[in-house]
Amino acid sequence: MSPREVAITPFEGQKPGTSGLRKKVNVFRQPGYLEAFVQSVFDTQADLRGGTLVLGGDGRFFNRQAIQVILRMAAANGIARILVGRAGILSTPAASAVIRRHGAQGGLVLSASHNPGGPDGDFGIKFNVGNGGPASESVTEAIYQRTTRIDRYRVFDYHDLDLDHVSLQHINSMAVEVIDPVDDYAALLETLFDFDAIRALIRRPDFRFRFDAMHAVTGPYAKRLLIEMLGAPHDAVINAEPKEDFGGHHPDPNPAHAEELYRETVLEGRLDFAAASDGDGDRNMILGKDIAVSPSDSLAVLAANATLVPGYAKGIAGVARSMPTSRAADAVAAGLELACFETPTGWKFFGNLLDAGRITLCGEESYGTSSAHVREKDGLWAVLFWLNLLAAKPGETVASLLDAHWRRFGRHYYSRHDYEAVDGKVAAAALQRLRDALPGLPGSRIGELVITAADDFAYTDPIDRSVSTGQGLRVVCGEQARVIARLSGTGTEGATVRLYFELFESDPAHQHDDVQARIAPLVDFAERMTGLRAASGRSGPDVVT
Ligand code: G1P
Ligand code: ZN
Repeated sequence: MSPREVAITPFEGQKPGTSGLRKKVNVFRQPGYLEAFVQSVFDTQADLRGGTLVLGGDGRFFNRQAIQVILRMAAANGIARILVGRAGILSTPAASAVIRRHGAQGGLVLSASHNPGGPDGDFGIKFNVGNGGPASESVTEAIYQRTTRIDRYRVFDYHDLDLDHVSLQHINSMAVEVIDPVDDYAALLETLFDFDAIRALIRRPDFRFRFDAMHAVTGPYAKRLLIEMLGAPHDAVINAEPKEDFGGHHPDPNPAHAEELYRETVLEGRLDFAAASDGDGDRNMILGKDIAVSPSDSLAVLAANATLVPGYAKGIAGVARSMPTSRAADAVAAGLELACFETPTGWKFFGNLLDAGRITLCGEESYGTSSAHVREKDGLWAVLFWLNLLAAKPGETVASLLDAHWRRFGRHYYSRHDYEAVDGKVAAAALQRLRDALPGLPGSRIGELVITAADDFAYTDPIDRSVSTGQGLRVVCGEQARVIARLSGTGTEGATVRLYFELFESDPAHQHDDVQARIAPLVDFAERMTGLRAASGRSGPDVVT
């Protein structure tokens, strides 16, 4: 059988954003669109030829069709072996684990993360490299450049494979191994955590616990780990059947979209511990009785207590956070004399630091935390980490752990305000107003706070010295506060403006105030500087986290 070459013309806008190429399903369904991007990956990533590729996704609408197309193209492009998750399923962290465990040369992860699914929703594709993590900017740029000139793709004419059973099949000489999507991942997590201690905690009748898989990919993973391996009752994992449209919801674990879990746990205090994950399983939200853990605080708490967990008992090398993430992790690093790095938004920027052994834990304010065990953020990993901490500290609750943490390291009040689907020009102009004002800001005040620095964040990777500019506007008031503004790189409709607010409080007597009340002066400042609300005709943000 010889491959068929299909002539195509380039599609505009196949530039990967913060996390892969994300578009409306209808865009991906245009004849040749998916193929053009995938062929551009194959054309630019020479070591895939004769190598192993991992393939899977979050199970959203179009996942199955896309996988069949990619299988036929991979065979026609000389890939020797493909590992594909059963039913086309692989959570993002599981894909990373599979790439690493099987020494694959890379992976294609099909997901639009927390964006809605279904025929009118979003689809996405991301190329991960041999370390299991998202490709660096230079790789995604090379792929993008190729998409601008692509004139043909290669494919075998072949029937759809049966992906619903673990099996070994072939397309021409390419081996297609349909693997259990959970096995490798569960085996990896078992090496990191004290499963006996967590099992004992979960089985305590007074420990009320729930995990919400949000009808997304973590259902099978949570069932295996939490119910089968850790003995949680069956009703502890809810919305565990992955659906192509996520039940019509945003599979985004935050107080706005996991509203019921939040209400029951934080507002009504009916659960002691609750957690949720997103569409592709890399995000996590941690809630305790009467309290929500800010993701930035979560990273800091995990870093401060890591040695209580078997996988990190020998200590951690360092921590990294994305720039907009609060400096709670920095306070821990300073206190424990750990290395600490500030990277641009997006998991790809942690890869080099993890590979070089400079950091062990890393995280983002956007409900992402993980460690060197994979090269992606990892939702269930974070849940098990918190459960392990609670198990290792009998008598403590999520609230008491946070309280003790703030007393020791101070509290960073934190909130992110999102303005979604703003007209692109209006959003760009608002940010430009702030950008223009940056040079004049140092020395002026926001109420009592003195602005000490203001810039457009640029990052030089400490390992490969690559430079990334334009990574977000930041106004810094020493150690006391920060206001940050940037445009989302994952949205598919208009522009999403993200404003981030951080305020430090060292006095335990003032560490339990209302977050929005405390940051209100910073919010006013951001509006004065950007004019965003006025220009977009909004009275406030669409989502507050
Ligand atoms: C968002 C988050 C970012 C995260 C990314 C992928 O990107 O802000 O932290 O890495 O999703 O999950 P953004 O839309 O802000 O570019
Ligand atoms: Zn995700």
